[in-house]
Amino acid sequence: MLNVSNLEQEINRLKHRMNAVILGHYYQDSEIQDVADFVGDSLQLSQKAAAVSAEVIVFCGVLFMAETAKILNPQKLVLLPDMAAGCSLADGCPAELFRLFRERHPDHIVVSYINCSAEVKALSDVICTSSNAENIIRQIPAEQPIIFAPDQHLGRYLIKKTGRDMKLWPGSCIVHEQFSERNLVKLKERHPAAIVLAHPECAEAILRHADYVGSTTGILKYAQTSPATEFIVATESGLLHQMEKACPGKTFIVPPGESGCSCSECPHMKRNTMEKLYLCMRDRTPEITINEELRLRALHPIERMLQMS
Ligand code: 13P
Ligand code: SF4
Repeated sequence: MLNVSNLEQEINRLKHRMNAVILGHYYQDSEIQDVADFVGDSLQLSQKAAAVSAEVIVFCGVLFMAETAKILNPQKLVLLPDMAAGCSLADGCPAELFRLFRERHPDHIVVSYINCSAEVKALSDVICTSSNAENIIRQIPAEQPIIFAPDQHLGRYLIKKTGRDMKLWPGSCIVHEQFSERNLVKLKERHPAAIVLAHPECAEAILRHADYVGSTTGILKYAQTSPATEFIVATESGLLHQMEKACPGKTFIVPPGESGCSCSECPHMKRNTMEKLYLCMRDRTPEITINEELRLRALHPIERMLQMS
């Protein structure tokens, strides 16, 4: 079996031979982030996927991200190291139920968070990510009623920020929902100078303690530009790799969950490993495939997001 440095060499060799680009989300293991050509948040990764010239896109993230890359690049081979890398938000919003929800509110425009299946995207009017959601909602005329899906916590945060009364799908992220307010307060008491940075997928009880709420890229940039040296970071712990690289000398702490556990690793994101990345490139599988009629319906709201961003 190859060790990590051999795997890295083999992945780089295959990348050149295949004319591939490796896109990685901040929640991937640090060695995957280090071998990726581009690491970013959901919006940056979809913008990158829309612009790449390589013949093959190897997506180190979860299924909805790789699907978005395929929707934007039907002619390219899009690989995902582990096809079982799902997302609790996407899984908690089945298209058949979402269609019924939408049908009950025919006068509403549907804004869906990118963390949803291609089928749910196809039932949506515009897609958003955590970094452009507020901006997109502010562009929708005030009298137009809105359905926001599938993240109820991001939805509630956006209602508070924009003052819009949106109908919310009751989904949530298993990673961001597990942070405990009680343990966060105790942690703040032990680190009174620490700045609290939180992703808007966290529940309101966590967000109310945050000094800054933003996407993964927003959190990273805030830590880079802040004069503070200690931060409590309420998001998936993979982001700390780039934060520590970009901010030498600063300290980052991930708050514990309710039972005191460090449950801030996304089990879906962490399904991808260096070995699976190497194997998927060597064998050119698992490959993302999307039926053309569905792809065209899902493409429209994604393009709308890219135009509105
Ligand atoms: P962003 O990368 O847009 O901040 O989203 C985080 C996330 O949960 C991706 O699954
Ligand atoms: Fe989905 Fe949460 Fe994992 Fe992101 S961190 S992929 S929202 S389960």
